Amino acid sequence: MSSPIADYLTQHRGENFALHEKFLNTQMVRVLKTIGYDRIYTRASGPYLYDAEGNEYLDLLSGFGVFALGRNHPKVIAALMDVLQAELPDMVQMDVSLLSGLLAERLLRLCPTNLSKVFFCNSGAEAVEAAIKFARYTTRREKILYCEHGFHGLTMGALSLNGENVFREGFGPLLPQCLAVPFNDPAALDQALRARDVAAFVVEPIQGKGVNLPSPDYLPEASRLCRQYGTLFVADEIQTGLGRTGKFWAIDHWGVEPDMILMAKALSGGFIPVGAVAMTSQVMEAVFNRMDRAVVHGSTFSKNNMAMAAGLAALQVIEDEKLVENAARMGDELLQGLQTLVDRYELFRVARGKGLMIALEFGSPTSFSLKAAWNLLETANKGLFSQMITIPLFKNHHILSQVAGHGMNVVKFLPPLVIGERDRDWVLGALDQVIADCHKIPGAIWDLGKTLTGHALKAKAG
Ligand SMILES: Cc1ncc(COP(=O)(O)O)c(C=O)c1O
Repeated sequence: MSSPIADYLTQHRGENFALHEKFLNTQMVRVLKTIGYDRIYTRASGPYLYDAEGNEYLDLLSGFGVFALGRNHPKVIAALMDVLQAELPDMVQMDVSLLSGLLAERLLRLCPTNLSKVFFCNSGAEAVEAAIKFARYTTRREKILYCEHGFHGLTMGALSLNGENVFREGFGPLLPQCLAVPFNDPAALDQALRARDVAAFVVEPIQGKGVNLPSPDYLPEASRLCRQYGTLFVADEIQTGLGRTGKFWAIDHWGVEPDMILMAKALSGGFIPVGAVAMTSQVMEAVFNRMDRAVVHGSTFSKNNMAMAAGLAALQVIEDEKLVENAARMGDELLQGLQTLVDRYELFRVARGKGLMIALEFGSPTSFSLKAAWNLLETANKGLFSQMITIPLFKNHHILSQVAGHGMNVVKFLPPLVIGERDRDWVLGALDQVIADCHKIPGAIWDLGKTLTGHALKAKAG
């Protein structure tokens, strides 16, 4: 028997773009139509999306990292159904729930041993907001340091730590006393911390925009400097955490012990928004230091049963299916395969990453005809070439991927951690063809380049 919502969906099938054009963000509809991503997906399973015709798409975007377990994982669905059917009391507020206690206990077993308390919230940005407030209150200092090109979310506090102007422009004034330092530069960090007036240094262990990896000694040195100057070291693992980089936390690659770890995305199991801050007991006890301050920070839906059950199920699946190990192995194999393409194609400069957080960087060619075409594209809009990879990957090979950031020729792969050998071969075979086509001039891909240049120039002209 179908439910009213199922009937409603059937009646309105295919109206997605018309509804969004009329009632939501029209520009998003324009973007998707322009780049040919305007498909109507009707089903999803594991790392795959399906359209009404039954075409299968490999999702290398995983909802910006939400679907580490793949989509619609049966064990997470079963956990959520159990909670719904158990008629549990939820969000009583003047109470403390069992599920949030269990998830906190389980998460802390996976954290460095210096972390012993958890604060739950509803999203990555909320975890960042909490970290800013907790750091200021704990240290009684105002300044927060973040890294150039960093990304920590788009609410006002998180935006104040955003390293890209394109997100910030026109939304100011942002939070005062938030200062950028270059990523991977311990000397600059030392300089910025020296006055002992910085509450926290907030850093992604591997930067999401561009997939920028730290040099081996950067994070250990940053952690040491923070300790030396009394600054809290906050690792934003919202994208890199829960196995993404082939270790449970990205910081585990460098053995550092932050004062706070921020997480969200994959902890949701792909279903219920959630965020969390794991922290030292000193931070928790400093902020929640008196009974009249027991609710001094929080939000209504945090710790709700569905989110907590999804989190517990997600951690169980990661363990049962050895997804951290799979991310490490598949990541290594993909990077090896990509390296052979780097060796063969002059436009493909670098493949880098850790686990299943991978960047493909393209750069100016040396041969004359390709160089002229490349320069034309770059003049119209810096970073446009990367779309000549992502668009045919999608259109001709049904692989969904993304450009790694504004103004850069970097394509990013962030697949579900469940991908296997078939998916690896699908990606490498498709890329080989797409990149080979980019070296044919004139050719269909450079015709696409001309169209993209036209769109870019029109957009610039307003
Ligand atoms: C490193 C990092 N921090 C914070 C956020 C913000 O998370 P959310 O979108 O859940 O607010 C993101 C989102 O992409 C992220 O990648």
